[in-house]
Parts: sequence; structure tokens; C-alpha cells
Amino acid sequence: MERSAIRGQLHRCPLMHPMTDQTIWRATVLTLFPEMFPGPLGVSLAGRALSSGLWALEARDIRDSATDKHRSVDDTPAGGGPGMVLRADILAAAIDAAGITPDRPRLLMSPRGRPLTQSLVVELASGPGPLIVCGRFEGVDQRVIEARGLKEVSIGDYVLSGGEIAAMALIDACVRLLPGVMGKQASGVDESFSEGLLEYPQYTRPQEFEGRQIPEILTSGDHAKVAAWRKAQSEALTRSRRPDLWAARRGTKNTTDG
Ligand code: ADE
Repeated sequence: MERSAIRGQLHRCPLMHPMTDQTIWRATVLTLFPEMFPGPLGVSLAGRALSSGLWALEARDIRDSATDKHRSVDDTPAGGGPGMVLRADILAAAIDAAGITPDRPRLLMSPRGRPLTQSLVVELASGPGPLIVCGRFEGVDQRVIEARGLKEVSIGDYVLSGGEIAAMALIDACVRLLPGVMGKQASGVDESFSEGLLEYPQYTRPQEFEGRQIPEILTSGDHAKVAAWRKAQSEALTRSRRPDLWAARRGTKNTTDG
């Protein structure tokens, strides 16, 4: 059997989560550099979860959908200009060949996309898992974005040389929220952005480091005081470093505090 046929068969066979007994969360990545995957997603928290079958990753080569003998996937931009554009027909064929179910979001990593926020991560992690197209060159033919309903997502206001690293960031942020992935660690509730606040500072032994002490309150054993201190620190940090987050939080909170 041809390799791509084996991959196709595996893909259509739904894998079950060992703890929840539901279909596992899956990321299907369309890229010109499938060898970049799993990359960092194959180590540490995400990598252990991948090996234990808590999620699945499929990296598919867009070039497998090329039709000419040079396996070309791009062409010069209509109207002129620098660089090359990913062809609509080739990318559409690659998306169709992935054979994903209609419930799965179809994303295109792009600096002009909707910003990736923790709330979008939570939304994506709670679904079946996305198909992610990694753009390269100067861009992707607009017609395939429209025809295949691709939602553009950006990981920040800077330009990477391709969508692969952005896709990895998105996948990593989702995977750590999946059931069973963080194990005994806090379930992601008490961390930056979960309440629209930056995380408070952390300390551990030794008690004194280069003349700096751990704030006394943290070693007092008074849990209520510790919680209040941490909240105040989070709020002060958010206010000074991220006035945008602070304003958004004040806009959504029905209180007079802060
Ligand atoms: N591809 C290139 N730059 C990107 C960005 N900032 N976010 C998502 N995808 C990208």
C-alpha cells in the first residue's frame, strides 16, 4: 500500500481518549515542511501527552497535491510584485485530501488574522481540533481562503517566515488544556490570562538569594493573605504592563474595584 494511503486510513480511524473515552483532539497541519513536526511538540508536556495518546498530530505535505513534474505549489502574484503566492487549486486539493469532518475549524496562520488569545485557545481546545494551513511565500490565493472557509489567525504583530512556528504555538497552547495533559499541576485556572490578568510573581527556595528575600507574607502560612497578596500583585502588574488588558477587564467586570 502507498504511504499516503496508509496515512489516509489512519486518519479516518478515530482514536479514543484513554481517560474520557471520547474521540481525541487532533491537529491536522498542512505545510510545505512536514519535517518541522512534531518538533518542539514532541518533547516535554505536549510530547508526553502525544506519546500517551491524549491528542494526535498529523502533518501533511501540501506538495503531495501538486500536479506537475516539478511538484510546484506557487506562482507569481497577479498584478505583479515580489515573491510567490500559494496556488488556490493546489491548496484546495490538499485541504480536500485531508478529509476532515465538517465540525473541525479550518485555520490559516497569517499575520493579518484574528489575534490568538487565551479565550480563542480555550474555544479551540474544547472542540474536536483544527485543520491548520501554514502559509509561506508572500501569501495564499484569496480564493481558496474564501472557498474553503479558512479563518485567519495571527500569533502577534510581527512576521514569521512561515506559519509553522505559529501553528506550533497555537497547538501547544491548546494541548496543555486537554483533559489529563497537565496532570496534578493546576488546571490552568490560576495563571496569566485565565481571568484577564497577568500572573503574580513566584518564589522558591532559597529563602535569601543575593540579598533578596522571599516576601514575608508568602512564608506566613496565612492562605487568605497569600491569595489577597497575589491578586493585588496580578492587578498591579496588569495595570502597569498591559493597560489594554486592564481596560478590557474593567469593561467586562461589574464592580467598582481597581
Ligand atoms: N505567519 C507569518 N507570521 C505570522 C504571525 N505573526 N502569526 C501567524 N502566522 C504567521
